[in-house]
Amino acid sequence: MGRAFVYVILGGGVAAGYAALEFVKRGISPGELCIISEEPVVPYERPALSKGFLLPEDPARLPSFHTCVGANQERLTPKWYKEHGIEMVLSTRVKSADVRRKTLLTSTGETISYRILIVATGARALRLEEFGVNGSDAPNVCYLRNLADATRLVEVMQSNTGGSAVVIGGGYIGMECAASLVINKINVTMVFPEAHCMARLFTPQISNYYEEFYKSKGVNFVKGTVLTSFEMDSTGKVVAVRLKDENVLSADMVVVGIGIRPNTSLFEGQLTIEKGGIKVNGRMQSSNSSVYAVGDVATFPVKLFGESRRLEHVDSARKAARHVVAAILEPDKTGDFDYLPFFYSRVFSCSWQFYGDNVGEVLHFGDYTSGNTFGAYWISKGRLVGSFLEGGTKEEYEAIARATRLKAKIEDPAEVERLGLGFATAI
Ligand code: FDA
Ligand code: NAD
Repeated sequence: MGRAFVYVILGGGVAAGYAALEFVKRGISPGELCIISEEPVVPYERPALSKGFLLPEDPARLPSFHTCVGANQERLTPKWYKEHGIEMVLSTRVKSADVRRKTLLTSTGETISYRILIVATGARALRLEEFGVNGSDAPNVCYLRNLADATRLVEVMQSNTGGSAVVIGGGYIGMECAASLVINKINVTMVFPEAHCMARLFTPQISNYYEEFYKSKGVNFVKGTVLTSFEMDSTGKVVAVRLKDENVLSADMVVVGIGIRPNTSLFEGQLTIEKGGIKVNGRMQSSNSSVYAVGDVATFPVKLFGESRRLEHVDSARKAARHVVAAILEPDKTGDFDYLPFFYSRVFSCSWQFYGDNVGEVLHFGDYTSGNTFGAYWISKGRLVGSFLEGGTKEEYEAIARATRLKAKIEDPAEVERLGLGFATAI
């Protein structure tokens, strides 16, 4: 059995939702577009899962955070897809793809063919087993990638109020989950191998601010080490975490956030893979002209840096999704994707934004003691290439984004350091 569509989006996450809206805005006919997703629900704003969804009071629940509310656009409910004649194939995993024949084989045994395919399969959370540690399936060990994970995390959190959690990993998931656990009255110890948190992005000075802030909320940090094994009780529940430095941390629950791998496996050997993702050009087109890729799974040319990157952030997924639809439906009017990388996070009362690239020399500015507003600029070859700001206003964030996009010239770093945020707002 099989069905045929003009456009198929493989994956039903952030990029799929934003692409669907763009298809409808630009005009497609009912029955032309199909979205296939392993998840049981239509696309939603994944960032909500580590923030609003985990709140003990008035938590975010679907349908409130379906795409595209995250960009202040229409909220696409199941009814919306139906009304626009978009075929949603949910709870269905694509098992194999044949780009030569332009077909996808699903877990239900159906063959779905396409004229144009957009791969938006995102990524999967890395498992501890991949680092030689067993125990991921224990009932109180949680990962966080999708709605099912988040629902389970809430259940485990609620049954451990007043207890203790060990958070493995000092990246985005670790930091955001640690804050949510504290808000849920759980005592948190964070364990990660680096010397400071968010090591992929933050400077030690920036990290230090957040670590002190977290400590003031009761979070304990164990840095420069990794876990080696779990201690379990007779029911298979984790009761303690053994570390390489020989410390043992007792735990009522564990949250693991140790990075992701893009879901490229269906296309390995069929499409060019680069830097772990499906390599695409500025139109998000892969090495096969009928296949496009966007979101966490795509390695695309970042014009501003003059090189291809894979970005694991929601703004990139949203904007690339809009761009790919424009490139498909109006190829003559659509140029290359010109994207300024943008990352952000919100934890406790903190809120930061980052634009550009974190390479080169760093200048810190602002008040790192009170934490009201502080930031950093990254400078390379006499130009501003990256900006970070905590506690900014909308206008201030816009200013650092603009200055970074313009690659503002920096002749006197000491003067820029003195001007701080004023350097960007004056541009
Ligand atoms: P996404 O993961 O959203 O969607 C992929 C979809 O493909 C899923 O529905 C998956 O089930 C499906 N799929 C995969 N393989 C399939 C197959 N073989 N068959 C069928 N379906 C398949 N970023 C940010 O900038 N700010 C933030 O605050 C956050 N916060 C955040 C919190 C949490 C908990 C996570 C996990 C991630 C974030 N992110 C984030 C990252 C951001 O959510 C991420 O970059 C985007 O969701 C990427 O969108 P994609 O559409 O590429 O993948
Ligand atoms: P990450 O790459 O941000 O951090 C991974 C962390 O894992 C590292 O900082 C390191 O401390 C730790 N680590 C690596 N190997 C380890 C090991 N063997 N033992 C212990 N710790 C180890 O990845 P993540 O935090 O898992 O986030 C997953 C994805 O979700 C990323 O794509 C991220 O961009 C996305 N996300 C983004 C946001 C945001 O942008 N605000 C929020 C949540 C999630």
